[in-house]
Amino acid sequence: MGRKRERRAGDRTDKPSGSLTESDRKGNTTTTTTTVLLLFVVPIVSVIVYRILHTPSPAAPDLPYVYRRGLVAEKIDYRQVLHENTITSENSSRRNFENPVFAYITPWNSQGYEMAKKFSNKFTHLSPVWYELKRTILLRTLQSPNAYLLRPGFSPLQLILPRVVLEAIPLDLLKKKKQRERAINLIVHLLQSPFTISSIDFCLREMGYDGIVLESWSRWAAYGILHEPGMRVTALQFVIQLGQAMHSVSLDQHKRQSLQLVYVIGPPRSKELEEYDFGPEDLRRLGDDVDGFSLMTYDFSAPQNPGPNAPLKWIHSTLELLLDATSSSGHEKLAKKIFIGINFYGNDFIVSGGLGGGPIVGREYVSLLEQHRPQLQWEKNSEEHFFLYIDNQDVKHVVFYPTLKSIATRLQEAASWGAGISIWEIGQGLEYFFDIL
Ligand SMILES: *[C@@H]1O[C@H](CO)[C@@H](O)[C@H](O)[C@H]1NC(C)=O
Repeated sequence: MGRKRERRAGDRTDKPSGSLTESDRKGNTTTTTTTVLLLFVVPIVSVIVYRILHTPSPAAPDLPYVYRRGLVAEKIDYRQVLHENTITSENSSRRNFENPVFAYITPWNSQGYEMAKKFSNKFTHLSPVWYELKRTILLRTLQSPNAYLLRPGFSPLQLILPRVVLEAIPLDLLKKKKQRERAINLIVHLLQSPFTISSIDFCLREMGYDGIVLESWSRWAAYGILHEPGMRVTALQFVIQLGQAMHSVSLDQHKRQSLQLVYVIGPPRSKELEEYDFGPEDLRRLGDDVDGFSLMTYDFSAPQNPGPNAPLKWIHSTLELLLDATSSSGHEKLAKKIFIGINFYGNDFIVSGGLGGGPIVGREYVSLLEQHRPQLQWEKNSEEHFFLYIDNQDVKHVVFYPTLKSIATRLQEAASWGAGISIWEIGQGLEYFFDIL
């Protein structure tokens, strides 16, 4: 963590001492005064002014470093991002956002494990993306050598809920009672004795899971399951049964609470709900048996319609839609269970001369800033930063990638609902993003 704060003060002192040699040759008292002024007073004043501008104000010593530096702003500069993106507060275990912070970690972006360790106190839930439920077995996905960093103990309050994607053919699973029971048993068994499945990973042997994150809705939607009212009810019933089975497991005494089931949901595509949308009714129906909802409020734009990743207004209206239909007391209880999705990746879209482009991660963003030195602009409508560049084939691109400001506004939105956040995923962001969490 190299800090480069002295550099700018140094630049300012260079100029006065350069002009000093000329004045010196003239050798009268006026120049001596000027010399003294230039040699000592100007640099000292510069340093003082610099200090005042850039040092934490004593009134707010507790603010995270990035706030004290004034980096959480609409007006930002590519140089600033390049210089500052790895610098964070000295104390990386202070939490600055009160509500739950849920973090996904993927084996294919192993920097996520390092971030999970370094900023471990900032996350209340960690979800390594590890399992797929096939026909009748639970498969472990590709493992990263960094997985050992998730060893228990570095943050006692943190819950570890691996993600399980239901890959089983939905009709098979949902139509047959035996299959459903088998799937539920597999998951409960995984949670009771994780090492029977991951015994190849010696280092994970002692890790007890605190529950799972289940992803199935998008797959059910893709298979047309949700169009059929009877099947839709069975699908919801499956989630409820799984929740009940998990909650009925008695845990070792060192665990403080029962196993947690978090369910992944997507934002409805429009105000007029379609059969495949997860709506307020569904939320209410699952509310008692599911402990949390990971709401995927991102991927608003695509190569066919280049634009922001997750306009703030859209996040807001999604929450209104999901929560408003419920009674006022139930509304608060359900809002607390929602983890509003925040993307730590961005998109680099082609805007002229064809369509294309797609997601980029932090280091690709940094490399684009280095290459193109673009002007970063704040888009008021979506409350996201973006920049334009032209590649060496003369094709114009637009890049939307999160910034401290865009993340801060989303944290405020979550706080206003009493909701938590879920980050996809912590291996893709810039290190200083974690400072404001
Ligand atoms: C860091 O912050 C935490 C939480 O606020 C506090 O308990 C701890 O004492 C701090 N550590 C240092 C070295 O200041």
